[in-house]
Amino acid sequence: MANHRRSFLRQVGGISLFSLASPVFNPLLQEKVTAAVALVDHLSPEEAAMDEDFWFSISQAYSSSPNYINLNNGGVSPQPVVVQDALDRYNRLSNEGPAYYMWQVLKSGKELIREKLSKLAGCSTDEISICRNATEALNTVIFGLDLKKGDEILTSDQDYPNMMNALEQRKQRDGIVVTKVKLPVPAEDANEIVSIYEKAIRPGTRYILVSHVVFLTGQILPIKAICRMARQKGVGVIVDGAHSFGHLDFNIPDLDCDYFGTSLHKWLSAPFGSGMLYIKKDKVADVWPLLGAPGDFDRNDIRKFEHLGTRSIPTEMAIGQAVDFHNGIGSARKEARLRYLKNYWAEKVRAHPGVKLNTSMKSEFSCGIGNFNIPGKDLHKIYQYIKTDRHFYCTRINHDDVNGIRITPQVYTTLKDLDLFAGAVKDALDRL
Ligand SMILES: Cc1ncc(COP(=O)(O)O)c(C=O)c1O
Repeated sequence: MANHRRSFLRQVGGISLFSLASPVFNPLLQEKVTAAVALVDHLSPEEAAMDEDFWFSISQAYSSSPNYINLNNGGVSPQPVVVQDALDRYNRLSNEGPAYYMWQVLKSGKELIREKLSKLAGCSTDEISICRNATEALNTVIFGLDLKKGDEILTSDQDYPNMMNALEQRKQRDGIVVTKVKLPVPAEDANEIVSIYEKAIRPGTRYILVSHVVFLTGQILPIKAICRMARQKGVGVIVDGAHSFGHLDFNIPDLDCDYFGTSLHKWLSAPFGSGMLYIKKDKVADVWPLLGAPGDFDRNDIRKFEHLGTRSIPTEMAIGQAVDFHNGIGSARKEARLRYLKNYWAEKVRAHPGVKLNTSMKSEFSCGIGNFNIPGKDLHKIYQYIKTDRHFYCTRINHDDVNGIRITPQVYTTLKDLDLFAGAVKDALDRL
């Protein structure tokens, strides 16, 4: 752990990727954050999750407004100042001569970013493609696989609409079959979940598209077990990891999925418009690039997905600072803190009469995302009151399977803010 502190110093403040673009981190901020990490070095992640001094220092690394409380970090997360600064610096530098600074100078660091991401994901650099968001990552797979009329992709009615749109388009265009299973809310029996998918598999089923963490409720699905079952049946698995990467502490290859797409601007706090696609090494060749790669492209090279044309190189490069910042906190500590925050507000809110959680409180099935309902009350009015009158920005979920309000704190969220939030829910209940 002592090493951990030194490596945080090195990662967050010490090395400049591009010495042209210094300084890397506001020194005062750096001192505060590294001193804070020293305070929790000897603690377990669960103990560190409760150390408010540490998390207050982390909160100071962000620039969030104190006049409005953001509880929709699951939609998109703010970036710590170190990432904002890097992005600003890279943008300014690029504007001194875009073609030179973006393509000759900054872009030369891209393989290092890939390496940082692959280390965080626990896989090889040959399995990581940098893209703009989870939608792009997963659409690349959905549209890139060779599927013929009658081939089936199995998914659930709680998967994300952008991916449902892609499946629908393949259905209309190529005649594939899309089948959606129904999942319980909340789901607390891993065997039951696996069996729901297993029972739906038929001879034409080629792939399962499944969310690691369901966006509606924060439900964690037993991906490893789903992949194991699917593999035995010769079915590939595409994981929508938009809400798990940078949130849960895991290595992608341990899931044993074939494809995994995620946004980096959610839980990793990377620049807006950054994402990542993982494809198991021996499956890369099976996926066509969404945007044409040069005619002689190497089918096995994951970089074939990166022929996007002009895009923001500053955004791609500042992913590096986000990974360093995340590593400084540590994946296990971050997961423990996010779960602690969810449990903290959820316990308070569910103590109010009539409140029902749509999210499991078991750690195997949920982490930082929670959703609650107040049956018998006009939830929309309650949501409007909390959001507009009381300035807690959260998400209204009005879905066939889930009626509720979704709350997603981030590492900068304080317990005091969550106390205020629980108080606002109580006031809403008293008034409406
Ligand atoms: C489960 C899930 N998948 C994919 C996405 C799409 O992410 P993005 O808009 O970054 O592409 C989201 C966005 O909230 C999501 O919740």
